[in-house]
Amino acid sequence: MASFTNMGSARETSSFLESIFKHMTDAIIVIDKQGFVVGVNPAAETLIGWSAEELSGKVHVCAICKGIATCSEEATCAECFREKLNVPSFEMRVITKSGHEFPAAASSARLPEESGADFVVILRDMSEQHRIERERFHRVMTNYVIQAQEEERKRVSRDLHDGVGQALYSIIVGMKVLDQLPMDEVMRHHLAELQQMTVRALEEVRSLAVDLRPSALDDLGLVPAIRSFIKRFEQTFGIESYLEVEGKQRRYSSAVETALYRICQEAMTNAAKYADTDQVFVRISDYNNRIEMKIEDHGCGFDTEQILIQGTGLGLYGMKERANLLGGDVKIHSTIGRGTTIHVVIPLDEEGAPLYVDPGTYCR
Ligand SMILES: Nc1ncnc2c1ncn2[C@@H]1O[C@H](COP(=O)(O)OP(=O)(O)OP(=O)(O)O)[C@@H](O)[C@H]1O
Ligand SMILES: [Mg+2]
Repeated sequence: MASFTNMGSARETSSFLESIFKHMTDAIIVIDKQGFVVGVNPAAETLIGWSAEELSGKVHVCAICKGIATCSEEATCAECFREKLNVPSFEMRVITKSGHEFPAAASSARLPEESGADFVVILRDMSEQHRIERERFHRVMTNYVIQAQEEERKRVSRDLHDGVGQALYSIIVGMKVLDQLPMDEVMRHHLAELQQMTVRALEEVRSLAVDLRPSALDDLGLVPAIRSFIKRFEQTFGIESYLEVEGKQRRYSSAVETALYRICQEAMTNAAKYADTDQVFVRISDYNNRIEMKIEDHGCGFDTEQILIQGTGLGLYGMKERANLLGGDVKIHSTIGRGTTIHVVIPLDEEGAPLYVDPGTYCR
């Protein structure tokens, strides 16, 4: 067998190069001066779906190439590799015989006159890399959106508490002082009404601020924050709710606490909105460096496959996104007439931070 360093006759060299041409996993396409494909290796046949025979001198390269891709997904013929000699590698949008389009990493070289051909192009399918890149981009963007939303909720919650909340409180104190002054009965009645309205407004502002972002989550951690959410939930919806905590009790990274709190909030609100039930059960357990949370109702249940395909709301989708960003998972079990269980698992390290995360997307 000939090798590059020890090649014998021209015949040996030619059969050696032929063997490379045949066995290369990258697609090789040879083009003549008019732009017709005059030769392809087996990898190219597989990639573009045309046989060497079908192509040979009959199919123009433009039937395979949709253009040179720019950094976005758009392809253009303005920068055609056949005219631009100084673009040795580029990204080509390839179209197969059956019309399927995909991105390919391409490199090209002009062939010498005596070869009888004009150009050789080498192609490698980049669909999988593009899919991975798109998914990564999606994760990064989702992470930014979730972070920004939490920050904004924190800010609005603080502003409501410290701004409108304090102003209403000052009004209540002022009215108490007014109440000590002499006035007629009609005035006193009006004042009492105003006092009641202001107290109610203050309660609403406080509850809105807590709903937006409970300070207990940052100050005391996941379990106390869920405990006080459950109390408010019971008062609002009249649904008996039970919390069971097992295993280690500790603080987790802010990202983990926020994600689990929001998932619990969404699952319980869904139960109140749709399950037609009077009980909800929450169980949190921390064993073997993984935190698990189950939110269960014995209500009407729903067809998970249909709902997830239809994508009627963002709640269930958001739960999965939040857990996936932290290297965890959410399983939704529901049976019509039997109820629903949302089961979240996040693997953790010793410090209570997520174990498997993409460093590009994770924010403690
Ligand atoms: N615990 C549950 N019991 C019964 N049906 C449920 C339950 N949780 C969810 N569903 C069903 O799944 C659907 C999708 O829920 P999801 O939380 O994704 O969206 P949503 O609550 O409709 O809207 P959003 O959460 O965006 O405000 C609901 O519309 C409801 O039909
Ligand atoms: Mg919902």
